[in-house]
Amino acid sequence: MGSAEKDVVILAVESSCDETAAAVVRNGREVLSNIIFSQIALHTQYGGVVPEIASRKHIEKINQVMEEALSEAHMTLDEIDAIAVTYGPGLVGALLVGVAAAKAAAYAAGKPLIGVHHIEGHISANYIENKELKPPFLCLVVSGGHTHLVQVEDYGVYRIVGRTRDDAAGEAFDKVARAIGLGYPGGPKIEKVSREGNADAIAFPRAKVAENPYDFSFSGVKSAVLNFINSCKMKNIPVVQADIAASFQKAVTDVLIEHAMMAVKEFQINKFAIAGGVASNSALRTGMQEACKKQGVEFYHPSPVFCTDNAAMIGTAAYYEYLAGRRDGWDLNAVPNLRLGER
Ligand code: KG4
Ligand code: ZN
Repeated sequence: MGSAEKDVVILAVESSCDETAAAVVRNGREVLSNIIFSQIALHTQYGGVVPEIASRKHIEKINQVMEEALSEAHMTLDEIDAIAVTYGPGLVGALLVGVAAAKAAAYAAGKPLIGVHHIEGHISANYIENKELKPPFLCLVVSGGHTHLVQVEDYGVYRIVGRTRDDAAGEAFDKVARAIGLGYPGGPKIEKVSREGNADAIAFPRAKVAENPYDFSFSGVKSAVLNFINSCKMKNIPVVQADIAASFQKAVTDVLIEHAMMAVKEFQINKFAIAGGVASNSALRTGMQEACKKQGVEFYHPSPVFCTDNAAMIGTAAYYEYLAGRRDGWDLNAVPNLRLGER
């Protein structure tokens, strides 16, 4: 060894859903820039993400966002070692924009191209602020599209322990928010009104999946909320939005915590992390923190800006792919239903 190893600087692109994002990351854990253009305001009037609008906005913004990421990092494309991009899972039209932009930039600059799995990105967000965190650890990924309990055996090596059978946790937040008149995006709005509500007001179900105790199911709690609202209306009882929100949030976070801690015990885990948009929920963070403390397990979580979609997490994941020698060709394509650990 002796001499200092050369830095690896990666320009990363993310466009799998409704955020157009680019970031520059040095040596996997040092974020030099993290530009996020959120389309949330655009989709709010439709009550959710409209794929066609998302794709069009990505096309409009992607070059500008990539240029901004470079200029904020005081870098030129020449100084970059590789270009990384989310190629799945996600909305196909949205993914394609990032993949095409990353390929074009990599081809023009003669740089290697690395396709990254979106969930691997979310998990890797934990490395950014926790410099000492290394696999193996257990990670709960909770986002708008995914609910996965994953054993991170090594960098790039994942074993899925549990997953949702129906709705993702974030999807349940979004659907319930719509039902109680909070609108899109549901997660942050439910979190906010929950602070004024009583989490023990309504006993919503905590579903168990018979075949795999680590799997999740959130469609039942969503239906229970809808039924509760209907029965209130029929009986002419006022619907207390804050109590429903708080009780629903408690039902979801209780299940997430219970399953995670069951896995922690069973697999004798000593490091546990959370990731994805729902991981920015403070009730979930506090609950997990306390549960981990009780179990004597180290608890990790990214800052909220690295929980929701961003490109820094893609740059971090790509760094370990880069070290492992993984490169993609110009035939890299968007894979909307890409599975974790598949390449
Ligand atoms: O990771 P993400 O930005 O996109 C996906 O990969 O899906 O996650 C977005 C999801 C949405 O469903 C949103 O409602 C949820 O994360 N979310 C939250 C919170 N912030 C975002 N859910 C609960 N509490 C929050 N504070
Ligand atoms: Zn995501």
